[in-house]
Amino acid sequence: MNVTIFSGAAALAAAVADIVAERVRRSPSLVLGLPTGRTPLGLYRQLVRASREGGIDFSRVTTFNLDEFLGVLCHEAGSYRQYMERHFFRHVNLDRRQVHFLDGAADDPQAECDRYETAIEAAGGIDLQILGIGANGHIGFNEPGDRLVARTHVVRLRVETRRANASLFGGDVDRVPRYALSMGMATILHARAIVLMATGAEKAGCVAAMINGPLATRTPASFLQLHPEVRVLLDQAAARTLK
Ligand code: PGA
Repeated sequence: MNVTIFSGAAALAAAVADIVAERVRRSPSLVLGLPTGRTPLGLYRQLVRASREGGIDFSRVTTFNLDEFLGVLCHEAGSYRQYMERHFFRHVNLDRRQVHFLDGAADDPQAECDRYETAIEAAGGIDLQILGIGANGHIGFNEPGDRLVARTHVVRLRVETRRANASLFGGDVDRVPRYALSMGMATILHARAIVLMATGAEKAGCVAAMINGPLATRTPASFLQLHPEVRVLLDQAAARTLK
């Protein structure tokens, strides 16, 4: 893995925004995989600014988000879809027909997961997947456990993940859905290039396990070691315990 350590979160966000801008300039119809969470907020701010200043044209870009809560309507405030609207989609010139999202309210969640896999394939696969990492080592919502799932699937969220998402649901962990839909490990690993960002001391343990540890289902992110083109961008706090 190619690891770069930044002095702070702002510099890191700017560097990831530069990577995205450069890729879009080179391939205007880039297929981009996108994360939610606190970590990418700075990235989205930078991309919105670059778009307003004419430095990046999203009009031919296709996006696929990693995951969505099960049982949450796409227009509900707590949905990841609304997070993306607030922080990114409504501020840039993406063609809405090329914005792809898992529908957390689908009648048949597994059929919805299968539809998503087919849509990714039809788009030609993901060119650049941006990832955060959960403090428990998850990527997307591929939670640590004794097994991982290859393709887009329904996941049961761990309590620490629900806690980490409580702010989307009025700070009330009991309102955070117990299940979600997520791209699977193979869906993520089939992206042509991957950029993972992590900031803050709470990520130091999972970052070290991802980079220095064995491949282990208890650290889903460790499987990124199998991918030939992963860039990991960290702030100093998240890099603290790296070998
Ligand atoms: P965070 O979430 O950016 O809010 O820490 C990351 C993740 O769970 O992937």
